[in-house]
Amino acid sequence: MPVTTGMVGQGFYNRNSAPQMAAIEHVLPWLDEAVAVLPLGGAAPIGLADFGCSEGRNSIALMQRLVPALRRRTPRDIMTVHSDLPTNDFSALFRDLRPEGRSVFAAADVSSCAVAGSMFDRLLPRGSVHLAMTFNAIGFLSRKPVDRLPGYILPNGPSRVRGVGEVTAEERAAFADQAREDIRAFLAARAAELVPGGQLLLQVFGADGALRTCDGIYDVLNDAVLALVAEGRISRATYERYYQPVYFRTLDEITEAVETADIPFRIERGESYESPVPFNTDFARTGDLAAYARDYTNFFRAFTEAVLRIALADHPEAEALVADTYARAERLLREAPERYPFRYIALAVRMTRT
Ligand SMILES: C[S@@+](CC[C@H](N)C(=O)[O-])C[C@H]1O[C@@H](n2cnc3c(N)ncnc32)[C@H](O)[C@@H]1O
Repeated sequence: MPVTTGMVGQGFYNRNSAPQMAAIEHVLPWLDEAVAVLPLGGAAPIGLADFGCSEGRNSIALMQRLVPALRRRTPRDIMTVHSDLPTNDFSALFRDLRPEGRSVFAAADVSSCAVAGSMFDRLLPRGSVHLAMTFNAIGFLSRKPVDRLPGYILPNGPSRVRGVGEVTAEERAAFADQAREDIRAFLAARAAELVPGGQLLLQVFGADGALRTCDGIYDVLNDAVLALVAEGRISRATYERYYQPVYFRTLDEITEAVETADIPFRIERGESYESPVPFNTDFARTGDLAAYARDYTNFFRAFTEAVLRIALADHPEAEALVADTYARAERLLREAPERYPFRYIALAVRMTRT
């Protein structure tokens, strides 16, 4: 079973994912490079597949860049594929793919579909994909490698700035191993779906030296949950079982996973980069602390709430506890923003299916 049911739906992820789009923008030129070398022989449609598309706003935006670039190379039919977990809320994606009843790509020879399933499984027909992509998603692990993470709510552990909590080296190693296996499972699935010479762009949040995308967000979420533990509203045992099954890799961890496995991919380029965060930029410009705390909290609520909800599922007050956790996090950010600085480090690797 996947470790999350997906993002907060009903448009909430779409409204609160500008930081993810900023991180995608950095690698849009990489997509142009990939399009330039795509093998376009044969008569079948050209398949462009995005794995972990969520509610689709960012997924459609990047396909809107790809489709005209591809049109300059071939008149062949194009199929855009938007894939996520079966429990993902696909409603906005479907609506936005056909605004006013016509394709958002404004062309009859571009078709789109949504495919539900885990990206770690084979999901599409053999040889049907020319360009496979995943953005801000593959850090969500395929499974929980340990039952409990008693000292903190994330395998990467707390930030140096905050320093509240602990993850042992042994615990962390179990997650690093799982993350390595996940990359390989993802690539094995894509190897079957991609045509030879097909391109793969793997982009994800991560860590680089002292900078880690997990810092700040999970510290404030951890502090908020611990505040409810201190008030006796969440039990210590529940806290010790709850963690977000997400792993923040380094670029080296990705390249090592690819290069030491028997999988038919060649790395063309890889980079770790820092991406601008719109709510940080806005705060620096306006000094509006309330807006900063709200936007920051909604940003991480969109991708953490589902897992917190699962952890509290048996609790009679689960709904109120979830709401109160994020209200508390927002308050902590307003009261002490200097404890929770957030920077977005992303990793990207472009590969060829050999
Ligand atoms: C933070 S969102 C990123 C969405 C979009 N790619 C973007 O960059 O804005 C992560 C997405 O990965 C999806 N996800 C998590 N585990 C997955 C899995 N095993 N297979 C497919 N999608 C998964 C989640 O449901 C979620 O929609």
